[in-house]
Amino acid sequence: MIRLSQASKTYYPRGRPPVVALKPTTFDIPVGEVTAILGESGAGKTTAGRLINGLTRPTSGSVEIDGVDIARLGHRELVEATRRIGVVFQGAALLARRTAQQNVELPLRIAGVGRAARRERARELLARVGLEAKAGAHPSQLSGGQRQRVAIARALSARPEYLLADEATSGLDAETTRSILGLLRELRDDLNLTVVLITHEMDVVRELADRAVLFENGSVAEQAAVSEAVRTPGSRLGNLILPPVNVAPAPRGTTTWEVGYTVGGVALDWPAALSARLGVPVLLLGGISEVINGDAAGRLYVAVPSGTPAESILAAGKSLGLILQPRGGDSADAEKVTFAR
Ligand SMILES: Nc1ncnc2c1ncn2[C@@H]1O[C@H](COP(=O)(O)OP(=O)(O)OP(=O)(O)O)[C@@H](O)[C@H]1O
Ligand SMILES: [Mg+2]
Repeated sequence: MIRLSQASKTYYPRGRPPVVALKPTTFDIPVGEVTAILGESGAGKTTAGRLINGLTRPTSGSVEIDGVDIARLGHRELVEATRRIGVVFQGAALLARRTAQQNVELPLRIAGVGRAARRERARELLARVGLEAKAGAHPSQLSGGQRQRVAIARALSARPEYLLADEATSGLDAETTRSILGLLRELRDDLNLTVVLITHEMDVVRELADRAVLFENGSVAEQAAVSEAVRTPGSRLGNLILPPVNVAPAPRGTTTWEVGYTVGGVALDWPAALSARLGVPVLLLGGISEVINGDAAGRLYVAVPSGTPAESILAAGKSLGLILQPRGGDSADAEKVTFAR
């Protein structure tokens, strides 16, 4: 497990005032899970990543990897301790004079792996990221997305226990992103790889992340399991991952209810089932429903005739695995939306 305890980072640029990149911050990265680090530009995400990887030492606090505080290690021990962390950074830096294949082989060379084994492992990884045809190409002959994929293959080549990826899929097309996410998921499941993803892409978070940590102004504002965050009303993390949508106003004589799904098994015919249980029409006004980590998650809005007792709605919803919350009644401009006869 990686654990930051009250870890902070202040930069002291020469001739300029100090910059607090990270205020004292505490969070855990559990083993075998994918943790997404989210937050606006400048919030401190990359700084936290650099602390985890030992590239930067904290100004205060500790950074533990499996119980060892790497902030206190000497240079050689630090290199040893962080060898178990594969890294892909914003703007992949590959060695320009080496081919894709040689770049992927590099960590294995450093680790003393023999030539034949190196070659085979690099080929296998290049195939996984869809670049077997480019094994002999130099970085200048590759597109940005292809370089990114070589960097991912390189980060994985020495079979790290942790993978830290800072915007690793940014700028890649949907197909390539999907194949890389598939690869990361397999590695998590097969090798118990722990993945830390710093990302702005909520598709990636919905598809792959188990946990999410939200950074704001240089510290952690919220952290939760993704499935938990999207089901917690008012969670900023939840709203980022599954954004609220604009919905039609409630038709005359109805009340709008917000619907969330509980964990594990919501039958997707719930609007019909809810209507049948209540004996009144239930109108779907809008919202989103997604599969997050193999489990249905949603935030939807329905209109129910205003006379329907709230207790009945809540009870019927609960029996269907729904979390229901009233969101207010009809409005004068809602006449256009009506129930079908
Ligand atoms: N070496 C440095 N010297 C001075 N200030 C720095 C340094 N590195 C980062 N900062 C400052 O620390 C703050 C946090 O930067 P950081 O790179 O961690 O943000 P980020 O959340 O990764 O943003 P982005 O999403 O844009 O990558 C920013 O205000 C940045 O300007
Ligand atoms: Mg960054």
